[in-house]
Amino acid sequence: MPREIISLQAGQAGNQIGSEFWKKLCAEHGIAPDGTLEDWAVQGTSSLSSQSTHTLAHMQPPSPTNPNATAPAASGSAAPWTHGVMDRKDGFFYQADDDHYVPRAILIDTEPRVLNNIRSSPFKDLFNPENFYLSKSGGGAGNNWAKGFELGEEGKEELMELINREADGSDSLEGFMMTHSIAGGTGSGLGSYLLERLSDHFPKKLLHTYSVFPGDGDVVVQPYNNLLATKRLVEHADSVIMVDNLALHKLVEDNMELSEASFRQTNQLVSTVMAASTTTLRYPGYMNNDLVGLVSSLIPTPRCHFLMTAYTPFTGDDIDKGKSVRRTTVLDVMRRLLQPKNRLVSTPFNQPSCYMSILNIIQGDVDPTDVHKSLLRIRERQLANFIPWGAASIQVALAKKSPYVQSNHRVSGLMIANHTGIHVRFSRMLREYDQARRIGSYLHQYKQYPMFSKDFGEFDDAREIVADLVDEYKAAEHENYLDYGNGS
Ligand code: GTP
Ligand code: MG
Repeated sequence: MPREIISLQAGQAGNQIGSEFWKKLCAEHGIAPDGTLEDWAVQGTSSLSSQSTHTLAHMQPPSPTNPNATAPAASGSAAPWTHGVMDRKDGFFYQADDDHYVPRAILIDTEPRVLNNIRSSPFKDLFNPENFYLSKSGGGAGNNWAKGFELGEEGKEELMELINREADGSDSLEGFMMTHSIAGGTGSGLGSYLLERLSDHFPKKLLHTYSVFPGDGDVVVQPYNNLLATKRLVEHADSVIMVDNLALHKLVEDNMELSEASFRQTNQLVSTVMAASTTTLRYPGYMNNDLVGLVSSLIPTPRCHFLMTAYTPFTGDDIDKGKSVRRTTVLDVMRRLLQPKNRLVSTPFNQPSCYMSILNIIQGDVDPTDVHKSLLRIRERQLANFIPWGAASIQVALAKKSPYVQSNHRVSGLMIANHTGIHVRFSRMLREYDQARRIGSYLHQYKQYPMFSKDFGEFDDAREIVADLVDEYKAAEHENYLDYGNGS
């Protein structure tokens, strides 16, 4: 039975990143931009009678019986190796009456520009046209969290109707995946509103987000918006993959030797990370083939659910062209995943900060014994520093690679990690907020909305929640963390 995931994309960043993700998923599953299955993919899928159960190695040591992942394939041909790849599209797509694939996606904004761009792109026929939601006023939330939240409230019935309809169309809904930014008005405020409603209406379903944290001074009022949205991410989301624009831009600029990266370029990297983080769900083996399992292996305590990622080798449409290709081995990949320059989070991770958990999703032509050797090497060299209060280790999932997407690299890897050092990013958020609040700049823009009309208690409450989060991450660096919150 499929474990369906409904994706919600809110605001500019949410929709731009979300549509890149869907493009990538279509390419990986051989789905054309209009949702029909490509000829070569039809042939590959129809011959998939038995499930390949040897896709994953988990923990150490990996099973020596695991065969290699699929061989790389040229796109556009009905290659013989496509016959061995069991893919699962039904978690992310459903099939319409004419059999074309439709993403389980709801596209939400408060102004028409980005939605119109999607509607006029080659992927215009992919999405269910009923799943585009535009606020009545169509004027945007003007970088104001409070306005975005209010527009969420105003559109509540229609939004919940869309969500319930998608949920009712699932056999076994696993949860929701939201893409949004926290610095503006819509992704941040309306996104917060949705997180509150979803956790009320679907308390047992997983709420997983890809949340864009801003670079320096992206939006003048970002200190307020960031804080108010982060409160909802702490309280209502089960897991948050932090997409840090500061790190993202630097990573793309360094790798592409550019002075300034465009959103199109950064979003390709984000969509690669999103696609890689869902590969074990889309090419299932015997472990981590649902989102709950994947997330729960990374989050030992509920509040510390902000995850960082690293990806290597760096890829993208215009990136691989003309670049010399190195030989990638599992050890190279696993080693590079631990290097700060490959992280999508900008905070320096200094001592005593440490990993609470690591999951490496390795894709490609991999001999499981290499994984075992690499893990030993990483341990010997003490390349990863773990928490003192639990038996943490690097988990490795060997995932299948799409046979329809050509890659220059033999092996690629995504690390999803829970690292206590992420508190530095939240401490910075608090400093920026305190500074803005001291000056009182732009506070009047929030005062017009009911939540702030009497006082700014909502800000004080959000500040306390984020400060508690920082304290909890710091406490997790110490041996007696498990007593944290028990009065010790
Ligand atoms: P309003 O326009 O205020 O209604 O809200 P919105 O949710 O549409 O705002 P937006 O998503 O533009 O939020 C601004 C933040 O998102 C800033 O930090 C931008 O740098 C970032 N951002 C906007 N578009 C993109 C994108 O395509 N990719 C990435 N990585 N960040 C983006
Ligand atoms: Mg916008």
